[in-house]
Parts: sequence; C-alpha cells; structure tokens
Amino acid sequence: MFPTHRPRRLRRTPLLRDMVRETLLHPEDLIYPMFVQETSKKPEPINAMPGQMRHTIDSLLSACEQTAESGVKSIILFGIPEKKDEAGTGAYADDGIVQRAVRAIKEKQIPLCVITDVCMCEYTSHGHCGEIKDGDVANDPSLKLLCKTALSQVKAGADVVAPSDMMDGRVGAIRKALDDEGFQDTAIMAYSAKYASAFYGPFREAAGSAPQFGDRQSYQMDPANVREALKEVQADIDEGADMVMVKPALSYLDVIRAVKQSTNVPVAAYNVSGEYAMVEFAAKAGALDRERIIREILTSIRRAGADLILTYHAVEAAGWLSKR
Ligand code: PBG
Repeated sequence: MFPTHRPRRLRRTPLLRDMVRETLLHPEDLIYPMFVQETSKKPEPINAMPGQMRHTIDSLLSACEQTAESGVKSIILFGIPEKKDEAGTGAYADDGIVQRAVRAIKEKQIPLCVITDVCMCEYTSHGHCGEIKDGDVANDPSLKLLCKTALSQVKAGADVVAPSDMMDGRVGAIRKALDDEGFQDTAIMAYSAKYASAFYGPFREAAGSAPQFGDRQSYQMDPANVREALKEVQADIDEGADMVMVKPALSYLDVIRAVKQSTNVPVAAYNVSGEYAMVEFAAKAGALDRERIIREILTSIRRAGADLILTYHAVEAAGWLSKR
C-alpha cells in the first residue's frame, strides 16, 4: 500500500475532509424530548439533567417555538401529572397534562411534529408501566390502558404515538384502537428494543417514575441480548409499527446497526437521560470538550444506522449543525 496510498492526502484540509465525510447530521434528524408537568406553577430545573426543565404549559410553548426555530422538526412529550394513582388514570384523561399540552401546541400552530410517549409509569402510584397483578405487570389488561392513552393523545392532536411500555402485542392493539376510531393515518413509532437500563436514572428523577417495588426486568429487555432485539423489531413491524426504536443508544450501537440492516423502516435511537447526564457532569468538571463530545456522540449514533436520534441536546446541536 504505502507509498502509493497515503490516506492522509484526503485529511489534509477542512475542504477535503468535508468532501469525503461519510456521515452527515441534519437538524431534521433530531427529536427533542420535553417534560411538561402540572405539579408546580413554575418551570422547574431537573437536577440530574442540567439544562433540562420540567415545563409548565406556558414555558413549554415558548420552548417549542425555540425548538421549531432551531430547525428541529419534532419533539416527544412526557407528562408529569399532579396526582398518580393505582390505575394511572392521568395517562388517558381528556384533560391530562400531555393532552392539554398537545392541544396548546396545536392551537398555537407551532410547526412541530408532536410525538407522545405512550406509557403508564409516570402516572401510576407504583411506577410500573402497566396494571399490577400478583406483584408483576399483567400484560393483556395493560394493553387496554395503553390503547386508551394513545387514543386520547391522538384525539388531542398528537401526530405520532410512541409506545414505550414493552408489553407484548401493544403495537397491534394500539393500531387497531386508532383505526377503529378513524385515525388510520396516525403513525406509530415503537420503542421496539428497549432495554432494562440503568441509563434511565435521571429520567426517572425528572418524571418521578421509578418503580416503587421491584424493577422493569420482566418487561424491558436484557442488555445482553441482540437476537431478541431483532425479534421484537420484527414483531412490532408485523403489528403495524411505522418506525422502530433502539434505546438506549450509546451502549447499543451494535443493536442499532443490526436493526438497521434487518429492516426497511426508519430506525430511531434514543440517546437517553443517563447518557446526557454523563456528558453534562463530565463537562462541568472540566474533563472534556462538551461541544466536540456531543457532535461525536450524535455522529456515532447516526453512523451506526440511526435515521432519527432522540436527544436532549437536539436544540443546541441543531444550532451548530445549521451553521456548519
Ligand atoms: C417510560 C420511558 C422511560 C424513558 C422514556 N420512556 C423510562 C423508563 O423506562 O423507566 C427513559 C428516557 C430517558 O432515560 O431519557 N415511560
């Protein structure tokens, strides 16, 4: 090879490097996760996620306007209800926090694709993602609650629903529930390969959604498995998922790649709260160059095969990317 081939020739100048770059990121590839709460009249910072807020509907609206201006096309919304109960009724109430927030965003005609997270854990007093029977989440009864939740969100104006509960059969059940009510054109982004991960820690502080007993290992996936991820993805696509997701992202780049190679639907990857917190706290400690790290992380998730990236850095990164 040497001296005929000198790979450094193409790395010599910024222009050459720009020309041969294989992986590009655009603001429209990013989805911004946002929290909206009805527990306080003021927006509240999230200690474990510096820079992120638990919004009121008012502060959410201005943050949404900024998000749209940044070039990001889409947000995913998580709600924190005033009261949690055994059945998680706040998840599917017509005047639930997410339903009210979606209506407000749509009334203001903010140009964003609004995705809603379909799950029970932020709304149940026990903090699990469905209905409890005999000390565990009961799969089939939980499907009814998830369908009601998805339907109420879509009625409020959600453009896409994203079930994150990991119950078996939920994509098919939600698809049917939406179709039966005339919402056959509303897309489903399925959290298909969602792992039982310690990287969700900061999110659970933000949403107050930590399970009050046990853990989520009987429904979320074992971090050791990749074959099973393909099975989950295939099942969700067979049941009508329009997009699939791998979550978390950074420790699961191999799973993103495998899913991308095995499917022809858009693949999303969720750069989750713990991944965000690691960057923010390390940067605060002066241990790394924050902007370069964020760019490198997002590029690596895209390079692994993600078409879309859910990231708490979305708005800030979009600012850098559109200037590039
Ligand atoms: C469940 C849900 C979780 C996240 C998104 N949807 C938490 C969990 O499964 O415990 C985590 C997102 C993150 O960590 O950024 N509703």
